[in-house]
Amino acid sequence: MDKRDKNQRRAFVIGDPISHSRSPLIHRYWLEAACLDGSYDPVAVTASDLPAFVSALKDGSSGFCGGNVTLPHKEAILEFADEADVTAREIGAANTVWLENGRLMATNTDSHGFSANLDETAPGWDKGKSAIVLGAGGACRAIVHALLARGFSSVAIANRTEARARVLADRFGPRVSPHGIESLQELVSGADLFVNTTSLGMGGTEAPLLDFTVMAEGALVTDIVYVPLETPLLAMAKRQGVATADGLGMLLHQAVPGFEKWFGLRPQVTPELRQLLIADMETHT
Ligand code: ATR
Repeated sequence: MDKRDKNQRRAFVIGDPISHSRSPLIHRYWLEAACLDGSYDPVAVTASDLPAFVSALKDGSSGFCGGNVTLPHKEAILEFADEADVTAREIGAANTVWLENGRLMATNTDSHGFSANLDETAPGWDKGKSAIVLGAGGACRAIVHALLARGFSSVAIANRTEARARVLADRFGPRVSPHGIESLQELVSGADLFVNTTSLGMGGTEAPLLDFTVMAEGALVTDIVYVPLETPLLAMAKRQGVATADGLGMLLHQAVPGFEKWFGLRPQVTPELRQLLIADMETHT
């Protein structure tokens, strides 16, 4: 007999690999805090499994009401969604899906997570005009989207492979410019915001030596990488006396809209939740 409670709302996170995901920790914390009868489980889904997973989701046989989508499915899921909102379409990737009257809806909450984290930890971060984004990988697109949405008039993307930065600049239009990594120090001069989206300086790679003190007054250096919490680039900025914000809050805040869609309640990002994640990172790095 199927012991599953039919009324229980069930959500997932799919990806390949998926065992490293910290999303279950976040959503289970909120489910417990709100005493909700719901579940949130990791499901390993390979690229070739994705069509079957989505069809069982849509016809209701999987019993899920929605979930998170992570690598390598963030772009592919858009092809299966019946409706992707404007944010997901502009970014070209989705990380959150849910069923609405049998239709699969998709959005991308990474852009919201990035902005909401800085709203909380570095209020006024969006008052500047010029931003630099280091890196042009998948994670960078949501950041560029957030910066344009918050009114930055100039977003410079610097990347080792300049061609990748150029593709993004073409996608996002005239406020975004592509650069090679060798122009980084020049770009930093006078900038209001610096965002790292790469793993540079970690796992044996060298972080470029940068002088952040030449940034505009009140400038901020932030990182979307949160393991370790203080990345080599954040440590460098801190040593130079420039304000910094770590990336853990982005992970926490990007989870908020999904939880609300699946379980009907807008959860809070609390200091206790942040501590829970930090403790987990200390034991499983
Ligand atoms: P994600 O989707 O998580 O952003 P990704 O697509 O692998 O990951 O992108 C990683 C980013 O880090 C890229 O911008 C990459 O630069 P390239 O486009 O030139 O590959 C950058 N990166 C990774 N290792 C690097 C290194 N040793 N030096 C410079 N840039 C590096």
